[in-house]
Parts: sequence; structure tokens; C-alpha cells
Amino acid sequence: MSATIIDGKAYAEGLRGRIAGAVSDLADQGFTPGLAVVIVGEDPASQLYVKNKARQTVEVGMRSFEHRLPASTGEAELLDLVARLNADPAVDGILVQLPLPRQIDAQKVIEAIDPAKDVDGFHPINAGRLMTGVPGLVSCTPLGCLLLAQSVRRDLSGLDAVVVGRSNIVGKPMAQLLITQSCTVTVAHSKTRDLADVCRGADLLVAAVGRPEMVRGDWIKPGAIVIDVGINRVPNPAAGEGKTKVVGDVAYAEAAGVASAITPVPGGVGPMTIACLLRNTLEAACLRRG
Ligand code: GUN
Repeated sequence: MSATIIDGKAYAEGLRGRIAGAVSDLADQGFTPGLAVVIVGEDPASQLYVKNKARQTVEVGMRSFEHRLPASTGEAELLDLVARLNADPAVDGILVQLPLPRQIDAQKVIEAIDPAKDVDGFHPINAGRLMTGVPGLVSCTPLGCLLLAQSVRRDLSGLDAVVVGRSNIVGKPMAQLLITQSCTVTVAHSKTRDLADVCRGADLLVAAVGRPEMVRGDWIKPGAIVIDVGINRVPNPAAGEGKTKVVGDVAYAEAAGVASAITPVPGGVGPMTIACLLRNTLEAACLRRG
């Protein structure tokens, strides 16, 4: 079997196009959604994410507010900025890039964001809404994974889903989202006994562990849908000394021979995260402004 490649880049482009259309309609009614992104420190990967977020925000016609703070920023100062963004009527969404420097309690910052502007979906109010099936803002990466899975199988109801990874950002909200879709969900993690065997039971497998190519081809049930959240940089000696490449949490070539559909890395889940962030910003703007 050769799997359908789920093209996240193309899906994200289409989604951004639809968002741009809706933003243009809102502009005709006289308002433009705004997203504030806050970054503390100089971490190059975070800087790149934030730059891409700001660029795509502007590309869909929204306003982007960037706040770059030095690594020495104190918690009180960041909380003060969040309070000002909460009160700013031009700001519909607030994202504080993680990780934060050690002197700042990230949970405290997340809980300070107005849940109505929490476009990351990390606030306990939004996490609780997802858990109880009440509409709210949903964490972007799991939302992107769900949309990609539904792009190859509209109705996921009744599927046995396995989520590998239990992080607050991906694993736990992913499991909750799949429950809302009537999947039977198992959450596996580093302490799971016989992980390979648990994965073999999955009609839908979501890998979000951050371990390069950990999920092998013989862990995949024939015909399964495989969603790979991993973005791992590894040495690539074939390309030359010191060269690297990005691989997922799934051994792609092996898994593609067994699965019915699979997301590639790069070009699968990755592009969906920012597209879903923009979708959440649009949703937050529409809800706030009625
Ligand atoms: N750092 C890595 N991924 C994310 C994300 O989705 N949101 C935020 N705020 N920080 C991140």
C-alpha cells in the first residue's frame, strides 16, 4: 500500500485564503482583527516562529502587534504588558511565545491572558471548555491535526485513536478534540508499556513526542491515518559534513508503506499551526465584536 500524502502546506494555504476573504468582509464593515505576539529573549527558533506569525498575520489582512522584550524582563513587567493588551480594543488575540526565561512563571502569564483573547487556547478556562464540550478557543497544533485527519476522512466517529504524547500544548488537547469527534482515545507516553503494541491498535495515530523517527513502520496498523507532529532536527551526513535535516516522530518511508494516509515532515502539521492561530484570531475578533 502506498499512503496518500496529506499536504498540510496546501491545506494551510487554502485556510489562509478563506481567512483573508473573511477579514476583507470585516474590513468592509469597518474593523480589522489584530493579533499581538509577545516574545521574551533571543532564542533563534522562537524568533523565527514569531517572524513567520507576524508575516502571515499581515498577509491575511489583520493587524500585527509585535512586542520584543529582552531576556532579562521580569515577571511583573510581562504581566503588566499582558494587562495592557487585555485592555487594548485593537487587540483581539494575544500570544506569548513559549518557552519563557526561567525567572518568569509561564503558567501565571498564561492565566493572566483574557480567555476571550487567548488564541493559543492555553488558558485553563479554554482548556476546561474543550474538556466539557463548550465552544472556546482550541490550541492551534491539535486543531490543525484534526483538520488534516478530517481532510482524508470526514467522519472520524468510532475510530480507535492513539495519541502518543501527553503535553498540555498538544497531547492532552488532541485527545479531548478526538473525544469530541467520537473516537475511542488512548493517550500513550514515555511510561506506556509496550508502546509499539498500543500504536498497532490505532486507526488514527497522532505522534507528538519529540523523538526523531521513534514510531516505526511495524507500529502502524495497515490502513491507518498517521498524523506526525514532530519537528526534529537531526544530522544528515549524506548531504555533507555538519549538514542537518528535519524529520518527524514517525519513520516516514516505513510508515507510508503501511498507512492509508500520512502527513509528511516538513509540510504536514507544521504549516497548519500558524493558519489555525489566524483562524482563532478571526474567531476571537468575531466573538468579541459580536
Ligand atoms: N512555542 C512553541 N509552540 C508554541 C505555540 O503554539 N504557542 C506559543 N505561545 N508558544 C509556542
